[in-house]
Amino acid sequence: MKKSLLALSVVAASFALFGCNKPAEAPKTAAGETKTAAELPKIGVVIYKGDDNFMSFVRNAIEKAGAGKAAVSVLDSQNDQAKQNGQIDALIAKGVKALAVNLVDPAAAASIVSKATAAKIPVIFFNKEPAADVLKGCAQCWYVGTTSSESGVMQAKIIADSLKAHPEWDKNKDGKIQFVLLKGEPGHPDAEARTKYVLEEMSKAGLKPEQLELQTGMWETAKANNLMDAWLAKHGDKIEYVIANNDGMALGAINSLQAKGYFKDPSKFMPVVGVDAIPDALAKIKEGTMVGSVLNDAKNQGAATVELAINAALGKAPTEGTAWKLDESKSVRVPYVNINKDNLQLAEDVYKK
Ligand code: BGC
Ligand code: CA
Repeated sequence: MKKSLLALSVVAASFALFGCNKPAEAPKTAAGETKTAAELPKIGVVIYKGDDNFMSFVRNAIEKAGAGKAAVSVLDSQNDQAKQNGQIDALIAKGVKALAVNLVDPAAAASIVSKATAAKIPVIFFNKEPAADVLKGCAQCWYVGTTSSESGVMQAKIIADSLKAHPEWDKNKDGKIQFVLLKGEPGHPDAEARTKYVLEEMSKAGLKPEQLELQTGMWETAKANNLMDAWLAKHGDKIEYVIANNDGMALGAINSLQAKGYFKDPSKFMPVVGVDAIPDALAKIKEGTMVGSVLNDAKNQGAATVELAINAALGKAPTEGTAWKLDESKSVRVPYVNINKDNLQLAEDVYKK
């Protein structure tokens, strides 16, 4: 008797347990996506400046690659490091399991690392490379970007090839190339490396670059447009090449040139080269107002950032189950690709929405 009572109560208890579980399970299935979304790992993403042309494509790629796999919140730091620090505090307080950080100021990496480390949250830096020792000193930190110097080297190759095909672009026939250079944000590893390497490689290729102007357009179309207006007023046709650290600024230079009557007929031409291969630049390459660009692969950089962040959030090795490889500096470096009018399609595919 006693035995069967005990057996009954065990059965009753398991029914009770089951009964308790069941109502909790049922709404989950019925509610479907909402419940599932709440269970996805929370990833906090901060972007240095929301209206940066290139970063808007990286943001899209992050959101696309994260869809259904992570609950991704993206915040715009509006080019203000203090604001970004506050956003990181807020994301940590909200319980994110990993952070993806596009720094405003590359020098701010160390303080972000200490906040994240204190909260035991892994950090994937992306697009603006932090100093190597900061990454090294943080067990749960990685970087996704490119090898910055590569874009300068590749841009020089576009310039060299174009001059081989068009020796007449050395307008004053002095065997040197009088150039103006639109630099990105000073201190940004991409801006510094692109500027250094494009000029070094031009020299190595025997092009004898001669600088007429070199100033920062802060990656922005409007600033570059103004600079080009001033440079054209000062140097006019003495300028033989316009080199821009990114396409946003190359497009600004082209606006300025078009306003001064360039590109109307073949006798009024100015070679302009950029980096990124964003769709607006591809359109210019197609129409012949831009010589070429270097593809900065927003799609794969965004995808790698979110894939590493999800793994880190789940406590896995950052590249587990992905196609990405970390180099000796704990970084995934997505390769650049040279783009001219013969292989535009490649960049069009990368920037497809
Ligand atoms: C891109 C620029 C962009 C910058 C933002 C660079 O890699 O080429 O277009 O403005 O990143 O940090
Ligand atoms: Ca010349």
